[in-house]
Amino acid sequence: MALENRLADQVALITGGGGEIGTAIALRLASEGSAVVIGDLDPAKAEETARKVIAQGGRASFVGVDVSDPLACEAAVAVAMQSFGKLTTLVNVAATITPDGTVETLSLEQWNKALSVNLTGAFLMCKYGVPHMRAAGGGAIINIASQLGQLGVQGRSPYCTTKAALIFFTKILAQDHAPDNIRANSISPGFILTERSSKRVGGKDKARVINGPRHLLNRPGEPEEIAAGAAFLASSDASFITGTDLLIDGGYVTFKGRMTPEGKAVML
Ligand SMILES: NC(=O)c1ccc[n+]([C@@H]2O[C@H](COP(=O)([O-])OP(=O)(O)OC[C@H]3O[C@@H](n4cnc5c(N)ncnc54)[C@H](O)[C@@H]3O)[C@@H](O)[C@H]2O)c1
Repeated sequence: MALENRLADQVALITGGGGEIGTAIALRLASEGSAVVIGDLDPAKAEETARKVIAQGGRASFVGVDVSDPLACEAAVAVAMQSFGKLTTLVNVAATITPDGTVETLSLEQWNKALSVNLTGAFLMCKYGVPHMRAAGGGAIINIASQLGQLGVQGRSPYCTTKAALIFFTKILAQDHAPDNIRANSISPGFILTERSSKRVGGKDKARVINGPRHLLNRPGEPEEIAAGAAFLASSDASFITGTDLLIDGGYVTFKGRMTPEGKAVML
C-alpha cells in the first residue's frame, strides 16, 4: 500500500499537537491520509499546526485542551467527533515542563502537576476516547513516553517517574482493550532536537554537541523520526503489535558511554 494511503479512513486526535514532536506527528499522519485533530494547551499553537496540515493538503481541525482537566478532555474528543465523525487514533504527546529538584526541593504542587499532565492526561484522553474508538471498530493508542522512563536521571524524578508509569499504563491499556480491537503502544524517544529539550543545555547547537554523543548514532534525533514511528504504530503494518514500548532513541538506552567525534565508543 502506498504510504499516502496507509492511514486513509483514520481520524487521529493528537494532544500536545502544537509542540514540535506533536506537529511532526500531525504532518506525518495527515500525509498518509489520516484526518487529524490537534489539541494543545496553547490554542494558537494547535491552530498553527492545523494550518500547516491543511497547507500540505491534509484534513485538520484544532482545539485548546488542558489534558489535566477532565471536562476539557471530554470536549476535545467531542470536537474530533464533530469534525470528522469518528475517532480511530489517539496520540498522547502533551507533557509539562517540570523543574529539576529532589524530594526536598520540589514542591508537592510541582510533583502533582507532572503527574496530572504527563500521566493522568493520557488516562483522561483514553477514558473519553476509547468508547468512540470501540464504536469505530477499533484503533490505536500511542503514548509518547521517554528514554528517561527507562533510564532515570538525577534531579528529574517527576518527569522520569511519570514517563515510566506511562509505559506501564500503556501495557495495561493494551490488555484491557484488546477485545475492542484497540492496540496500545508507547514510544520512548531518545534526545530529540526541540526547543523544549535543548533549552536545558542552552540551545540546539549546544544540545547537538552535548547530547548527540550519548547516542550510539552520535547525534540527537529529529521530531520526524518519532513521527515515522507513530505512523507505523497507527497503521495496519503494526497490526500484531500491542503493549510494547518502541524505543526510537538512536541507541541511547543500550549504551552507557559517549561517542567520540570519530565514532568510537568510550565506555563510562
Ligand atoms: N524532545 C525530546 O528530547 C523528548 C525526549 C523524550 C520524550 N519527549 C516527549 O515528547 C513529547 C513532546 O516533546 P517536545 O520536545 O515536542 O515538546 P514541546 O514543548 O514542543 O511540546 C509539548 C506540547 O505539549 C503542550 N502541553 C503542555 N502542557 C499541556 C497540557 N496540560 N495540556 C495540553 N497540552 C499541553 C505544550 O503546549 C506543547 O505544545 C513530550 O511528551 C516529551 O516528554 C521529548
